[in-house]
Amino acid sequence: MVNTKINLCGIEIDNPIIPASGTYGFGYEFAEIYDINCLGTFSFKGTTLEPRFGNPTPRIAECPDGMINAVGLQNPGVDKVISQELPKLAEVFHKPVMANVSGFSIDEYVETVRRLENDPAANKQIGWFEINISCPNVHGGGMAFGTSAKAAEEVTRAVREVTKKPMFIKLSPNVTDITEIARACEAGGADGISLINTLLGMRIDLKTKKPVIANKMGGFSGHAILPVALRMVYQVYDAVSLPIIGMGGISTAEEVVEMMLAGATAVEVGAANLIDPFASKQIIDDLPRVCEKYGIKDLNEIIGGAH
Ligand SMILES: Cc1cc2nc3c(=O)[nH]c(=O)nc-3n(C[C@H](O)[C@H](O)[C@H](O)COP(=O)(O)O)c2cc1C
Repeated sequence: MVNTKINLCGIEIDNPIIPASGTYGFGYEFAEIYDINCLGTFSFKGTTLEPRFGNPTPRIAECPDGMINAVGLQNPGVDKVISQELPKLAEVFHKPVMANVSGFSIDEYVETVRRLENDPAANKQIGWFEINISCPNVHGGGMAFGTSAKAAEEVTRAVREVTKKPMFIKLSPNVTDITEIARACEAGGADGISLINTLLGMRIDLKTKKPVIANKMGGFSGHAILPVALRMVYQVYDAVSLPIIGMGGISTAEEVVEMMLAGATAVEVGAANLIDPFASKQIIDDLPRVCEKYGIKDLNEIIGGAH
């Protein structure tokens, strides 16, 4: 028997597989096709203080081995997430969920987390916060916090004031030195680091000779970005003494093992859920067999093993 249970900042989860924010809605959509309680947990859709309609369309472009999205944090806003989305999730998912939060100012991050904390039902449902300081698809916020060490530390420190729950800060790969940003988050009081969000990319339509995406650029994700994500997780593992949630291009159980060897304690699966809605479940089903194949008895023993 392979042990796939891992401890994520004091909360034990059955396996390290976590569908990534923005690719799994609020979970109940997927519960229609399989029992989502097989997941370690999942990170719900990036939630902001106010409702957001998102960016103009087209906002998806296909790429070889990946995709570009410029969804722009479409979500109903934190109050509706609390009153409508989380109650629907509670009916089908009986484990702690990861609350992914975005903002356009430090006050917005703080107020969104505060409202989730202060609602008794939401508070009970949420195991961890994942603070997204890395969305490339919105102006005047998101990635702006994730590309400056000073701003990353400030937002981390401010959110730390309003929650005692484990808090992961989600970093952008669109920086020169990812270790500097990770260290700033550690200094600000983060409990863990999530990485990577999408890489800024674009495509051009040969017929119109214009960018495919209305917003011109978007976030590139999917299988093609795996080597970049592995490299950054490997670097951050050396730079901080916090647990890491690794993501970017994961679509198989073998790649989960690879990400954990680079330094991840848990692994998020993003675009793969959009290609195959059963992708996360398939990875969970495959994981024990893959561990046995490579002589792994306990996943905890391989974290950072490549160093
Ligand atoms: C359609 C789409 C929407 C996303 N929305 C969010 C979001 O709301 N919040 C967030 O932190 N990341 C968001 N992401 C980024 C993913 O969570 C993940 O970090 C990224 O896609 C890399 O993983 P992957 O290569 O497995 O997709 C989104 C990604 C996609 C493809």
